[in-house]
Amino acid sequence: MLLHIPKILDDQRLAECRRLLAGAQWVDGRVTAGSQSSQVKHNQQLPEDAPAAAQARALVLQALSANPLFFTAALPKRIYPPLFNRYAGTANAFGDHIDNAIRTHPASARHVRTDVSATLFLSDPHDYDGGELVIEDSFGTQRVKLPAGDLVLYPASSVHRVEPVTRGERVASFMWIESMVRETERRRILYELDMAILALRDDDQDSPAVVRLTGCYHNLLRMWADV
Ligand code: NI
Repeated sequence: MLLHIPKILDDQRLAECRRLLAGAQWVDGRVTAGSQSSQVKHNQQLPEDAPAAAQARALVLQALSANPLFFTAALPKRIYPPLFNRYAGTANAFGDHIDNAIRTHPASARHVRTDVSATLFLSDPHDYDGGELVIEDSFGTQRVKLPAGDLVLYPASSVHRVEPVTRGERVASFMWIESMVRETERRRILYELDMAILALRDDDQDSPAVVRLTGCYHNLLRMWADV
């Protein structure tokens, strides 16, 4: 399932995030790449221990935790602390690759299984050319370029790339989520069911059928979730 979640960052948080990143020291993006992806990765990242990265990361995590759509779509168990990257100049693309299945956080030594990948766009799409996130999976090829502050969730099991940025710079935050529900298809069913129940709900008095459907949602979650 590929899901576009608008306005993860409101205008104020977006401006604050951009301000933090504008003065930061970027390094070669291969610091977090696996051996296959490092062959095709040509971008820059913020070091995980950079002060600006820590502040921007806290801001992004706070925004994610306040977003109900993110929660119901990803059903997060753990989030690998968000990272930040920049595509510009000659470090402007990331060829086809698949994200490592397990990430280990350097500070905590904690493992995160990457079930869901997410990209939060921080640059205005009118300010750069190219830079589409191209995702190939069972749903076909999708080209994603979103307004600043918007996020895309997609299965970490998919082959994906970032097209060359030929004008301006593309700054984004990216992260991985270990989900309480490991299988993409099960997450999709739960998401669809939750959205359908929301559409059927009544502010005053939910019908008995809605109550039973809500029970089905929670019983499926009980059956499938690993917390
Ligand atoms: Ni990737």
